[in-house]
Amino acid sequence: MRSKVQGVGAGDSNAILAGGILPRRAMRLGFLAAALAAVVVLGLSGLAPSAAAGGAPDAAAGAKTFKTNCVMCHGEDGKGTPTGQALKVADLTSDAVQKLPVAELVKVVTNGKNNMPPFKATLNADQIQGVVAYVRQLGKKK
Ligand code: HEC
Repeated sequence: MRSKVQGVGAGDSNAILAGGILPRRAMRLGFLAAALAAVVVLGLSGLAPSAAAGGAPDAAAGAKTFKTNCVMCHGEDGKGTPTGQALKVADLTSDAVQKLPVAELVKVVTNGKNNMPPFKATLNADQIQGVVAYVRQLGKKK
């Protein structure tokens, strides 16, 4: 009698344990699946821009970036708006700027220079490469 009660008791607690463990395991699998999906999505979205950038930086995308982020100081033509001139903006079409190596232009746009604000928080590396390629085109247009 006593042992039978104990047996039932043990059985019950086993059932409760199993009931508690199974959903928890299922949840853990769900988290794993969600984490894996997130990794896959992040991986793909991380790959897409660099794949699109491929070889040459995209000056067409750079033109858009320039209009949004640079025109207020440098002007559509790169020669500088009144606002820009008040800040002693550089004429982007000038030889002084056009002679600078791409790496130097990337550095200035990334980290800023004197009154020129840094863009590392606003633009990613591809966008900076693109806008620098566009700055190079401004030099050829003059
Ligand atoms: C708030 C105004 C402002 C904005 C916005 C701005 N610039 Fe400038 N930029 C300046 C000023 C001022 C200078 C001159 C810095 C110096 O040499 O003292 C300058 C200089 C430059 C130079 C020349 C650097 C050198 O070493 O001579 C480049 C290239 C340039 N900017 C590109 C850009 C690009 C690309 C953007 C947009 C992503 C941009 N700037 C946005 C103000 C601005």
